[in-house]
Amino acid sequence: MKTSHQVLFQDAKKMKSLKSGSVDLVVTSPPYPMIEMWDTVFSENNPKICSALQAENGGMAFELMHKELDDVWKEVVRVLRTGGFACINIGDAVRTIHDNFMLYPNHSRILTSLYQKGLSPLPAIIWRKQTNAPNKFMGSGVLPAGAYVTLEHEYVLIFRKGGKREFGTEKYRAGRQNSALFWEERNQWFSDVWMDLKGARQDQVDKNVRKRSGAFPFELPYRLINMYSVKGDTVLDPFLGTGTTLLAAMAACRNSVGIEIDQNFSEIIDAQFGSIVNFSNDHINERLRRHETFVKERLQTKGPLKHINQHYGFPVIMNQEKNLMFNHLTEARKTESGCFEINYSEKPMRTSPRQAKEADIPGKKNFQQLELKM
Ligand SMILES: C[S@@+](CC[C@H](N)C(=O)[O-])C[C@H]1O[C@@H](n2cnc3c(N)ncnc32)[C@H](O)[C@@H]1O
Repeated sequence: MKTSHQVLFQDAKKMKSLKSGSVDLVVTSPPYPMIEMWDTVFSENNPKICSALQAENGGMAFELMHKELDDVWKEVVRVLRTGGFACINIGDAVRTIHDNFMLYPNHSRILTSLYQKGLSPLPAIIWRKQTNAPNKFMGSGVLPAGAYVTLEHEYVLIFRKGGKREFGTEKYRAGRQNSALFWEERNQWFSDVWMDLKGARQDQVDKNVRKRSGAFPFELPYRLINMYSVKGDTVLDPFLGTGTTLLAAMAACRNSVGIEIDQNFSEIIDAQFGSIVNFSNDHINERLRRHETFVKERLQTKGPLKHINQHYGFPVIMNQEKNLMFNHLTEARKTESGCFEINYSEKPMRTSPRQAKEADIPGKKNFQQLELKM
């Protein structure tokens, strides 16, 4: 099994090289309108934005910034296949302009824009980014009535183009089953509030670069890709930044295309690609290990599980998990044309040789013995 991953350094307002309906899933996070770190990027696209900010016309600046994004959303709708999903991570902004402190509701402006362009909005995820920062409470402290509630969340807006995706042939149905999640992951990932997102990639990337780039944690696109696409699908991120979505697609055995206007990100994308094999395999092993821990606890508290996964031999809750399988990465290379290619193991692996040394992971027998004892 093989996937390919392409980075296009260009403006996402025109995705000429992408055919209509050629993308199965969009996962992205645009520059956030009215958050100061993105003022320059928006102003470079349209000098009227700079003028509106200088004239302290917050409403006009907000609308003009969203008009820039609208052109990208139009292309997103065009390239997305019928039945495909778009997941957009966005935060609202608070800002004082002309002595008026107010919220600029980016999420509702984007939701309306994509709805008007023909996508169906679905229940969204609130990504709770709890902080202990002393300045998180804004306004007049404990005195009524001039304090503001904290802004400690962002959104992951979720849309679908048209009706449910069809998995018409036996081959597609098998691919879908093979791409299943664990039941316990479903319970967490398909909940509307995410509070547990860890920046799994954070120690691999310079923290200052992450701050400047507005990068999201690896786990965010990784979950969404697993939730809304199947292995072999094509994932698009039109605002690629440091390349997190591409890395998540590589780890999840999907193809991907990333578009980024700023060529300066090329170096960091390449650098991260350098460690993708070990990083992804560790991530997969961690999922396996977490499932095994879940099974042990479940056996002790609720008794035997009903089904056995046919690839790994461990118990699972649902019949739909029986064919779930991970493909470990075996090789990563950059081709002469600049495309990234990943090869995968066809057979299920319990763990990488490196991790096997570190941990004594129980196999099928241990679980069966545990089950018999109950
Ligand atoms: C919030 S950041 C994305 C961060 C990314 N999710 C990551 O994990 O690194 C938005 C990115 O969009 C890029 N961008 C802004 N306008 C663009 C456009 N019109 N076309 C393509 N990329 C654009 C910016 O340069 C920036 O890197």
